[in-house]
Amino acid sequence: MTVVLSPSILAADFSCLADDVKRLEQSGIKDLHLDVMDGHFVSNITFGIDLIKHLRLKTKMNFDAHLMVTNPDALLNGLKEAGVNSVTVHVEACKHLYHTVETINKLGMQGGVVLNPSTNFESLKYMAEDNIIKKVLVMSVEPGFGGQAYLPMSTKKIKDLANWRDENNYNFIIQVDGGINLNNIQTVVDAGATDIVIGSSIFKHRELEKNVADFRKLLSL
Ligand code: DX5
Ligand code: ZN
Repeated sequence: MTVVLSPSILAADFSCLADDVKRLEQSGIKDLHLDVMDGHFVSNITFGIDLIKHLRLKTKMNFDAHLMVTNPDALLNGLKEAGVNSVTVHVEACKHLYHTVETINKLGMQGGVVLNPSTNFESLKYMAEDNIIKKVLVMSVEPGFGGQAYLPMSTKKIKDLANWRDENNYNFIIQVDGGINLNNIQTVVDAGATDIVIGSSIFKHRELEKNVADFRKLLSL
């Protein structure tokens, strides 16, 4: 399966966000990772639907919203209207996870679930049986901030998740998010992740084009 690089704009210079987004698109990036944080589910605050709506006018890239908020259900209609293509919600934030993910799918977006480092994936079994989950995002840092170090246990978790998926013929894709750099990306790809979220390593020194090219070269993309 082809590997997708999904830059997270969390590490962008928010005072020139539109320019950064255009630079990524011109570098051939097709998927943009949007970290929505409410200062409550995580202590950081980023942006919401209005900013996404404005960004939608600047690019044709797929928008992938990662909701780190206490009440994800309240945002779903607005995200659809803003032109978001896929939405992942934290298992730890959803009272009725099946319903929330199903609602995302029914709205015409791709629904996915996010697992914090300490969260198991086995409880997703019944949702996976019904093919509700299109993507599982393995957090490889605690959510909330960019620039943290990759947690080593994540590699085994991705491997176990990929084996579990393949043994049961589930077909969700595996995304990984947090601390990914040129030294560890091959490891997470080998473990089974195909959608790789990268924040600070893409925006490093603001050399977006070079950084994207370095990742592509390393993975022969
Ligand atoms: C953290 C976010 C990540 C973050 C990753 O909660 O979900 O998407 O932007 O940034 P890096 O790649 O710097 O760890
Ligand atoms: Zn994220």
